[in-house]
Amino acid sequence: MFMQPVAVVYFSQTGVTANAATEIQRVLGGPLVELHRQPAYPENYSELVQIADKERAAHLLPTLMPLTTTLSDVTTIFLGFPTWWSQPPLIINQFFATTDLRGKTIVPFTTSVSSLIDESMGTLRSLAKKAGATLTPGLTANSREDTQNFIRQYQ
Ligand SMILES: Cc1cc2nc3c(=O)[nH]c(=O)nc-3n(C[C@H](O)[C@H](O)[C@H](O)COP(=O)(O)O)c2cc1C
Repeated sequence: MFMQPVAVVYFSQTGVTANAATEIQRVLGGPLVELHRQPAYPENYSELVQIADKERAAHLLPTLMPLTTTLSDVTTIFLGFPTWWSQPPLIINQFFATTDLRGKTIVPFTTSVSSLIDESMGTLRSLAKKAGATLTPGLTANSREDTQNFIRQYQ
């Protein structure tokens, strides 16, 4: 069951997930909170891939810049990220590890070239369980139509 108040929290490297997050927030309201890596990933694609791949191989959680909005009053968090190698980027693991999410409901969404949210659900389930949060089925937000249909149930 959907419980207000809601927040939309997302990481986006090249703006695609940011667009989906903005679309969701526009409909559902609540704060829109961007996750930032410290330092930011390089904009150059091959440098980004190199760094992200190193993190992935060593399971290194990048530093997350402190959030500018408190999530303590929020009960439902839409959590968005680009799929990287069929998984959430490790900054998402870091978000789970460093944020008090006990009792909250997490609604995950991803953007990708073709990967579905299903590929990330196993990881998300174990992160949510460890954090004491409830994970709902998620959304592959690669089309506006799919996104709008999915969030209709939350309006
Ligand atoms: C390091 C890296 C790994 C990626 N791995 C996948 C993948 O496994 N499957 C896929 O469909 N797209 C993959 N992509 C493409 C991104 O998921 C896609 O471009 C996404 O929409 C970017 O979102 P953003 O603009 O919010 O960063 C990858 C992109 C990068 C940079």
